[in-house]
Amino acid sequence: MKVSPEILEESVEKRRISILGSTGSVGCSTLDLVEHQPDYFEVIALTGHKNVNLLIKQALQFEPKLAVIGDENFYNDLKEGLKDTDIEVAAGTAALNEAAEMPSDTVMAGIVGVAGLAPTLVAAKRGATVALANKECLVCAGELFLDEIHRSGATLLPVDSEHNAIFQVFDFDQIESVDLLTLTASGGPFRTTSIEEMSNMTPTQAVAHPNWDMGAKISVDSATMMNKGLELIEAYYLFPVEENQIDILVHPQSVIHSMVTYKDGSVLAQMGTPDMRTPISYALAWPNRMATPVERLNLADIGELTFEEPDFERFPALTLARDALKTGGSLPTILNAANEVAVQCFLEERIGFLDITRVTEEVLNRTPTSEPKTLDDISHFDESARELAEEVVNSLK
Ligand SMILES: NC(=O)c1ccc[n+]([C@@H]2O[C@H](COP(=O)([O-])OP(=O)(O)OC[C@H]3O[C@@H](n4cnc5c(N)ncnc54)[C@H](OP(=O)(O)O)[C@@H]3O)[C@@H](O)[C@H]2O)c1
Repeated sequence: MKVSPEILEESVEKRRISILGSTGSVGCSTLDLVEHQPDYFEVIALTGHKNVNLLIKQALQFEPKLAVIGDENFYNDLKEGLKDTDIEVAAGTAALNEAAEMPSDTVMAGIVGVAGLAPTLVAAKRGATVALANKECLVCAGELFLDEIHRSGATLLPVDSEHNAIFQVFDFDQIESVDLLTLTASGGPFRTTSIEEMSNMTPTQAVAHPNWDMGAKISVDSATMMNKGLELIEAYYLFPVEENQIDILVHPQSVIHSMVTYKDGSVLAQMGTPDMRTPISYALAWPNRMATPVERLNLADIGELTFEEPDFERFPALTLARDALKTGGSLPTILNAANEVAVQCFLEERIGFLDITRVTEEVLNRTPTSEPKTLDDISHFDESARELAEEVVNSLK
């Protein structure tokens, strides 16, 4: 007997959800899905950093219990904008943790950069389901972050499209049958650009991703391919495989979001149009699936799917990230921090495009490896790498 659609609908319970970084690209896509399925979700907390007007608009529409603005300079604006509501308002770093602490079933970790680590850890520590978009949590604090997840019994669901794809096709009951994970990469806006041309690329050109509509930082990371390097480290922590079992393959159409090769020769892939609402919906509805307004994949229209090896000479960030993962210790934290500073300096037009990876490499070369044992150690390595990266940037002038 076939299950009726009504029964499938009923099996999806209403979920209480908090969104860290609701004003960003991932945050807005998450709220778009909530808007399409208002009976499935109750919004508990929303957070932004500087975009207070959007946060106010979202809070008025979704009526969370708490709205937090990370940058305290915007506290009065937020208070004023929500003065006719019952929504509690707060500002600052501690308030972000408060948002993550509020009782909810799922916390979408959509803050960009290491700023997302502390509130995401709060959500992990209280045993929430963590929908993890913020890859930097795993890159810079992998073991310690996972320790907290295991200690509290929290559920960690990958939102990054590649990791979400692997999660969907990974046979966790037969780990030993997995040979290889293949992370696909679009190749970014400069996939076919020569090094000479890349040296003159502007922030506007670097953030113009051919397939995905994302925030500025991850878009620049896609242009240098550091994003794929960070994803390599993220995949290592998310899935029970060794570093040499994770491969990167350029696939310009972004239709296959990643693949798992099994020892019998089978390759399982997850496909879809490049729209973050698919992996986000998977994490929001897990272990069920929910309907989304995402455009359906039409392979006949696309015609052909192509693949190529990554070019490690033009995209040295891939090698930096793999080496940092192989060496381990504090190096992934340092890689992430130096890259964040370098990307910000590039966006502010203080350095050129190729300098992003140069600065990161220089910081890695000048920092001895240590073993972070606590989150305070992680903060210390992160801060020192940021200071050194600023120094290197200034020396380039
Ligand atoms: N976008 C994608 O398609 C995509 C795909 C896969 C993974 N990810 C990952 O998801 C994360 C978010 O990416 P995104 O593209 O959504 O970034 P984004 O559009 O730049 O949004 C970032 C969010 O974080 C907030 N934020 C920025 N700095 C903050 C700080 N210091 N403290 C607290 N909040 C802060 C921003 O607030 P304001 O805007 O109000 O300043 C915004 O809400 C990243 O880790 C990225 O790697 C994104």
